[in-house]
Amino acid sequence: MSSTQDILVHTEAGVATVTFNRADKKNSITEAMYSAMADALEQAARDAAVRCVVFQGDLAIFSAGNDIADFLQQVAGAVGQAAGERPVWRFLRVIAGFEKPLVAAVCGPAVGIGTTLLLHCDLVYAGDNAAFSLPFVNLGLCPEAASSLLLPQMLGYHRAAEALLLGEPFMAEAALEVGLVNRIVPPAECNALAQAQARKLAAKPLAALIETKRLMKAGQAAQVQARMQEEGASFARLMAGPAAKEAFTAFMEKRKPDFSKC
Ligand code: COA
Repeated sequence: MSSTQDILVHTEAGVATVTFNRADKKNSITEAMYSAMADALEQAARDAAVRCVVFQGDLAIFSAGNDIADFLQQVAGAVGQAAGERPVWRFLRVIAGFEKPLVAAVCGPAVGIGTTLLLHCDLVYAGDNAAFSLPFVNLGLCPEAASSLLLPQMLGYHRAAEALLLGEPFMAEAALEVGLVNRIVPPAECNALAQAQARKLAAKPLAALIETKRLMKAGQAAQVQARMQEEGASFARLMAGPAAKEAFTAFMEKRKPDFSKC
């Protein structure tokens, strides 16, 4: 069982709430945080008292995505695990296969996996300051979390291409229009709305919820897991390439990356 103060887990009234708690680094997600989130989901799956899980950040930031210092360490070969065994891939396998309902409250930026994890949530509520972005290409990488499959389905190919190839942020209104979020509220109301909806779900018969969710996703559950594996292999290959190294180094050095040789 991993332990980090950067992820808080609190269970009340049948709802387990997972809170990103690393505001000084914009809730970017380290390997320890992925492990803690995967542990929290596995615990929630086992615990009969938990009937729904909520993900939330704070009012100004949901998550800046993967911790880029961690990425740099991986590029430098300082992390001794095979790519598929990294905590991020474990977290993605667990969230994509999670049977009970998942709700998210998103305020401020949701970058990279901060957006792609929402594709595996059942209900998503956004503050009107929410900004979604998928800058994988800008980092020399490719999409993860089966977003290369799920985003074109949700947005249509051309809008998905704009989001994934250009990596430009889109705001809460655009996310509402394409169905990535259910409702937009003032940021101060967002976490409370997600909790209220989660508690409604927690009061419903769990077996019926689980079966309904399974049926809605049954058509492509295997495809999602297979795509995540394929993305994982491509991601690992690109991670070892010059563009990713340049992008991560540039971020840490607070300069623009130079891809002219990549
Ligand atoms: N990994 C590691 N550190 C990060 C981070 C990340 N993904 N995102 C932000 N931080 C750190 C910054 O390095 C900075 O640290 P410092 O105070 O020690 O210098 C701190 O968080 C504040 O970030 P800053 O960029 O100054 O905040 P901002 O409010 O101007 O911008 C973001 C917020 C989220 C838009 C911006 O931080 C950002 O774009 N982050 C990178 C997102 C990204 O590319 N993620 C990877 C996705 S795969």
